[in-house]
Amino acid sequence: MTDISALEGDLIARIAAAEDDAALEAVRVHALGKKGVVSELLKTLGALSPDERKTQGPAFNALRDRVAEAIGAKKHALGLAVLQRRLETERVDVTLPAPAFAFDPNAGRIHPVAQVTDELIAIFADMGFALAEGPEVERDDYNFTLLNIPPEHPARQMHDTFYLNARADGSRPVLRTHTSPVQIRTMLSQKPPIRIIAPGRTYRSDSDQTHTPMFHQIEGLVIDESTHMGHLKWVLEEFCKAFFEVPNVTMRFRASHFPFTEPSAEVDIQCDRSGDTVKFGEGDDWLEILGCGMVHPKVIANCGLDPEKYQGFAFGCGIDRLAMLKYGLPDLRAFFDSDLRWLKHYGFGVLEQPSLAGGLTR
Ligand code: DAH
Repeated sequence: MTDISALEGDLIARIAAAEDDAALEAVRVHALGKKGVVSELLKTLGALSPDERKTQGPAFNALRDRVAEAIGAKKHALGLAVLQRRLETERVDVTLPAPAFAFDPNAGRIHPVAQVTDELIAIFADMGFALAEGPEVERDDYNFTLLNIPPEHPARQMHDTFYLNARADGSRPVLRTHTSPVQIRTMLSQKPPIRIIAPGRTYRSDSDQTHTPMFHQIEGLVIDESTHMGHLKWVLEEFCKAFFEVPNVTMRFRASHFPFTEPSAEVDIQCDRSGDTVKFGEGDDWLEILGCGMVHPKVIANCGLDPEKYQGFAFGCGIDRLAMLKYGLPDLRAFFDSDLRWLKHYGFGVLEQPSLAGGLTR
């Protein structure tokens, strides 16, 4: 008859000696596999007398359970050891200067849209604007209704909206057609004073040389008790000077209409388009760069704020267009072709972080 404790001692020793997963698996097959020593032992139960079976049965089963448990524990320990070895060998000291671990700063390039977004964030952060965000799949009422664009308003047609399937409650989300819904989200969730910018992706069903179905906008919003149009003009002027890196810009505020602002204006900046590239701050041409205005009292009220007490301004602007203007990029569609040759040519170095102190572009 098999000496169970000797067998167990032998198996436990083999398990302990297994140095890797393969060795442990061999022990498992040797013990618990179809023809394993423990399995064979269990098969002998049938030939035993009922009395012997009563004592041997539980003993054999307990042996099988202990061996299986020991294998499980060893497997876990081996996994931890492998992880520990990897952690030790793959350690990277992130505080080392880049060249010390053969980091190639030219291996990737920053897309002009990402670069310009970082520039915009640096400029507005310097003026005390916080960064706000909203989802790209947006509620219809945030994208339109609360911005004073009711269901039958002609502006809805102008937005060439991508609608998603209706939800169970009947509401129909949209791919946001502008970043303006972030105004709503911010006013619904924060108490004034509010001073935010919200860059991000926006979508409209439109495609030609100057339109792509996905594009980027940046929204600005200031709400407090005393902000007026003069502040708006100053902020936009400072922004244009910083962004185009010129000491002076001449701007023209043209009366316009947006449902969510009153009064509304479109802003043109003076430029010279006579050469190959556009030059800002000189020349006798005008280029439209953004829409803006004083936030409509209805929009403020729609967000649960008292329009008698609170007021402020908003602006919205296409980031891709800003990138095209500043860096002389000819075709908007190329932005989203994912052509590495284009990115190598027009992209920016990964270590060239824009900052007002260090210069926006180097
Ligand atoms: N949301 C407008 C658009 O997509 C742009 C805009 C205009 C935003 C005026 C504003 C604003 O915040 O005040 O065309």
